[in-house]
Amino acid sequence: MTITAPDRLTPVLTDLWDAPEPWKLATYRAHGGYEGLAKALTMAPEDVVAEVKASGLRGRGGAGFPTGLKWSFLPAPDGGPRYLVVNADESEPGTCKDVPLMLANPHSLIEGMAITSYAIGGNVAFIYLRGEVVHVYRRLLAAVREAREAGLIGTGLGPNGDYDLEIVVHAGAGAYICGEETALLDSLEGRRGQPRLKPPFPAVAGLYARPTVVNNVESIASVPGIIRHGKDWFTAMGTPKSTGHGIFSISGHVKNPGQFEVPFGITMRELIELAGGMRDGHRLKFWTPGGSSTPIFTEAELDVPLDYDSVGAAGSMLGTRALMVFDETTSVVRVIARWTDFYQHESCGKCTPCREGTYWMKQVMHRLEAGTGLPSDVDLLLDVAGNILGRSFCALGDAAATPIQSGIKHFRAEFEAGLHTPAWELFPYEASALF
Ligand code: NAI
Ligand code: SF4
Repeated sequence: MTITAPDRLTPVLTDLWDAPEPWKLATYRAHGGYEGLAKALTMAPEDVVAEVKASGLRGRGGAGFPTGLKWSFLPAPDGGPRYLVVNADESEPGTCKDVPLMLANPHSLIEGMAITSYAIGGNVAFIYLRGEVVHVYRRLLAAVREAREAGLIGTGLGPNGDYDLEIVVHAGAGAYICGEETALLDSLEGRRGQPRLKPPFPAVAGLYARPTVVNNVESIASVPGIIRHGKDWFTAMGTPKSTGHGIFSISGHVKNPGQFEVPFGITMRELIELAGGMRDGHRLKFWTPGGSSTPIFTEAELDVPLDYDSVGAAGSMLGTRALMVFDETTSVVRVIARWTDFYQHESCGKCTPCREGTYWMKQVMHRLEAGTGLPSDVDLLLDVAGNILGRSFCALGDAAATPIQSGIKHFRAEFEAGLHTPAWELFPYEASALF
């Protein structure tokens, strides 16, 4: 049977999003919420870790590191504290899955945090939330209070009443770099958020130099389903090395942009179909698999299965599954100029290649956008990008250089047109739509 795209929706994390007041504890519990936690508390912590490991769940924040394996890196308990920190600082351009997930169903995250904390032997867990989303902050605070009042977190948990867990919601101050896990930990400790040298990884020396698991919101929210239904239920979805369901965020020139929860391994062609297709009368020009930090893809990659290995083989990372879709009215130079502005603004300044390189790439991109580029500018961009890539302290520098390199690879003529013609004259339709 040919699978058509609508059959591929797998609403697990999103299944309650259209229910009345899905954020309420009563709604969540009426649909099996907190059954996973009840089951986990009857298991040995190491068995919970083993089940998540066997499920093949990989980090949903972008890097795809195996979640259960990360938990198992924590050193043996020494009587001191161990922490879970949820990275809820979602800021990758185009990525919009964790914020709606926390808004619609905060209890799936809280239940996942309770299971994870129990598994790793932690008694205090933190949610580090992007500061701008005040409405999500309030919703999380209310949900944590509800869970505490219902005795789902707090003291004396589990059949023997011997497990305690406190959850703290912390709002950041709106810096993209604080989504980098060690900058996040510095910020949570009250310092300026800048990446730390790794190793040691947080699993060994994280928050307050104690063993810490840092996981993305969607990763942790996926844990209750795995414990409740078992690893085989999870591995039945997706591909052998990219198991399970995932929320893919589609934005841009499609008819119905939004979040689509589907098994890993779906193709972009199917996802565009799920999103209603390209807007009428227009055709695809380019798209991104993982927001602005990954190379851009074109029609040639529409049938690449969106799993970690296949996208890797196609020359990119799957990243955050922020699928930004652009049609033929779009100037690739203008899009990449906006992304470069973003990276230059968000560069934390700690290392020279990124601090200086993003500044110079921004100057050159603006010249090309304005049609006042110098004859050497396209090669200069490649030179600067090449000196950032692989030489910067954290992934932000690489992220800034990658779209420039792949943009020139696919659309060099458009960059060269920037030596004499402004982007808004080459793409007047887009310009009139924007201003
Ligand atoms: P990474 O590959 O260095 O690490 C991934 C995770 O695995 C980390 O938690 C790290 O501590 C852990 N890890 C790796 N090797 C380990 C080891 N030997 N021992 C213990 N733990 C180990 O990737 P990184 O720099 O943490 O994240 C980069 C990704 O972040 C990119 O792929 C990008 O897609 C994503 N990203 C997501 C954003 C968002 O808004 N969700 C924003 C910006 C980037
Ligand atoms: Fe800071 Fe950029 Fe260096 Fe990362 S790559 S440490 S963001 S200057």
